[in-house]
Amino acid sequence: MRPGHVARCPLVAASLTPVKGLILSGGAGTRLRPITHTSAKQLVPIANKPILFYGIEAMVEAGVTQIGIIISPETGSDIQEAVGDGSAFGASITWVVQDQPLGLAHCVKIAHNFLGDDEFVMYLGDNMLEQNLVGFISEFTSRRQSPELSSPTGGPTAQILLAEVDDPRSFGVAEITEDGSVVRLVEKPDNPPSNLALVGAYLFDKTIHEAVAAIAPSDRGELEITDAIQWLIDSGHEVAHDVLVGWWLDTGKKDPLLECNRLVLDTIDPQLDGDVDDASDVEGRVRIEAGAKIVNSTVRGPAVIGANTVVTDSYIGPYSSVAADCQVTNAELDHSVILSNSSIKNVARLTDSLIGSHVDVDRSTHGPAGLRLMLGDHSRVELEG
Ligand code: TTP
Repeated sequence: MRPGHVARCPLVAASLTPVKGLILSGGAGTRLRPITHTSAKQLVPIANKPILFYGIEAMVEAGVTQIGIIISPETGSDIQEAVGDGSAFGASITWVVQDQPLGLAHCVKIAHNFLGDDEFVMYLGDNMLEQNLVGFISEFTSRRQSPELSSPTGGPTAQILLAEVDDPRSFGVAEITEDGSVVRLVEKPDNPPSNLALVGAYLFDKTIHEAVAAIAPSDRGELEITDAIQWLIDSGHEVAHDVLVGWWLDTGKKDPLLECNRLVLDTIDPQLDGDVDDASDVEGRVRIEAGAKIVNSTVRGPAVIGANTVVTDSYIGPYSSVAADCQVTNAELDHSVILSNSSIKNVARLTDSLIGSHVDVDRSTHGPAGLRLMLGDHSRVELEG
C-alpha cells in the first residue's frame, strides 16, 4: 500500500481503543461580527441547532465520548451553559479556557493535561462536514494498530483531512507526492502546490506535543497547526491524509453560514409540533417546533420555525431558519437565519440575511421618510438597489 495513503477499513474499527476529542470553540470570530461581539459563533444555529452541537454529535457517533472543548473567557460561559456536562450527547466534557486566541496549535498545548499521551481527533468548532468522522478515525487507528496495514515507518503520527477546492489561495494547502505522502503544508499560498485544502478535522498521536513545543509563533503571532504538522513531516514522521467526501463549510462568515443552513435544511424531516391555523399553508420540508403558531401565513420549506415563534400574515420562503421566541408579522423572508427573540415586522422581503438575537426590524409609520438604524459595531446593511 502507498505510504501516506490510508485504506478504508471500517470493519476493524469496533475493536480499537477509542480516541479522545478536542473541539476548538474559542477564537475571536472577527469575520462574523457583530454577532460575535456578544455571542460565540459556534452557537449560531444551523437549522435551529448550534453549529457546535453537530461537531459533538459527529464525535459521539464515531465513539469519541471523552471530549475537551477549548473556550474563550468572553463566550465560554454561554458555551458551557448550552452544552452542559455533555450527558445529553452521551459525552463527558472537559473545559479548557484559552485566555487569548493564540492559534490552533496553542489549543493543543493548553489541552495537554486533558489529552495526556492519547490519540485524539481535533475538530474546529465552526466547521461543518457532510461526511461523518467514523471512517476518518477508524482508518487512522486501524492503520496504526494492525500490523499488516502499517507502513515501514510504523504508521502515521497524524492524519489530515483534505478537500478539493476551486481556489486554494485562501486556505492551508497540502502538497502530496505521487505515492500519496504529505510532504508540505503551506498557508494561503500565492502559487498553490495542489487544489487540496485543509479541512477542520485532524488526528494526532502524542508526537504532536513535541511538535507544538518545538515551533515558534507565526508572523500573525499564532502557533499554527500547519507549522506543527510540517515539523512532524520534517522530523521524518508519516502524515497520512484522507480526501473528504461531500460538502464542507467553514461557517465563520455570513454567506457560507447561510449556504450551510441551506444544505442542512435540505435534509430535515418534516415535523409539526406547533399550531397551523386553517388560513395558513405549510408546504414541503418544514419543521414547526412546539408552541410555535402560524397564523394566516405561508411557510414554504425547507424551513424551520422555532419554539414559541409566532408567524402572522407572512410568507416564510425556502431555506429559512427562524429560532425560538421570534415574531414575524406582515413580512416576507427567505434564505435567512434569524436568531432567537427577534421581531421582523412589515418588511416587504428579507433575503440572504443573518439576524442576531433580540433584534427588531420594523417599518416606520411616523416622521419624514428615511431609514432609522441602530446598528452594532461592524454591522453590515445592504439596501435594495
Ligand atoms: P478561526 O475561524 O480560524 O479563527 P477565529 O475564530 O479567531 O475567527 P476569525 O478569523 O473570524 O477572527 O478558528 C477556527 C476555530 O478554532 C473556531 O471555532 C475558533 C477556534 N479557535 C480557538 O479555539 N482558539 C484559537 O486560538 C483560534 C485561532 C481559533
